[in-house]
Amino acid sequence: MEIRYLGHAGFQIRFNDFDLVIDPFISGNPMAKNINLDELNPDFILLTHGHQDHVLDVESIAKNSKATIISNFEIVSWYENKGIQGHPMNHGGRYQFDFGWIKYVHAIHSSVLPDGTYGGNSGGFVIWNENQGKDNTCIYIAGDTALTIDMKLIPQTCPTLDLAVLPIGDNFTMGYQDAAIAAEFVQASKILGCHFDTFPPIVIDHKAAIDHFKNKGLELILLDIGKTLTV
Ligand code: NI
Ligand code: MN
Repeated sequence: MEIRYLGHAGFQIRFNDFDLVIDPFISGNPMAKNINLDELNPDFILLTHGHQDHVLDVESIAKNSKATIISNFEIVSWYENKGIQGHPMNHGGRYQFDFGWIKYVHAIHSSVLPDGTYGGNSGGFVIWNENQGKDNTCIYIAGDTALTIDMKLIPQTCPTLDLAVLPIGDNFTMGYQDAAIAAEFVQASKILGCHFDTFPPIVIDHKAAIDHFKNKGLELILLDIGKTLTV
């Protein structure tokens, strides 16, 4: 699996020959000027919740690519009313897509769509594949969330994680100290950080965050925007 950082909480994932975009916030992020929106041509767009810093560029990407949105029922319904196709899920549910499985899991956060429409409950995604001979990587994308004891259910109900993508910027989500506990809850030793540095209240000390994880025997990876991690 290849994971490219699009800035803030946005990622582009290449998995079993499919292209997934997660939570795109590019045109409104001065730090993501090196990302060319027109080049994104995903098969699916995964949305953790309805906040502007996660959905800003969904309509333009979806209209160019004809991608299918995967999110909670409320968010998918909102986009379907705009003529964008979607696959609705809700907490605890799994579904097998052509690229592999997704389980929509709990997050502790709020969710409202940009026009004030109720955005359902925030979630996260566990993504994996069980077919032999294909990429069997399993990753957890937490979405915006507080540290929650529900994360302990993930290793009990999903395959072993190769990577956890966790928010680390504090203020709106977990800070890196709580994210290191979350990594232990989900039993991931490799963590990709997101939701940091984009706005003044979430600017973090990178070295302090990386050292904090290292002291617990965990690896925190912070990608430059546009860079790709292979797991
Ligand atoms: Ni949010
Ligand atoms: Mn956010």
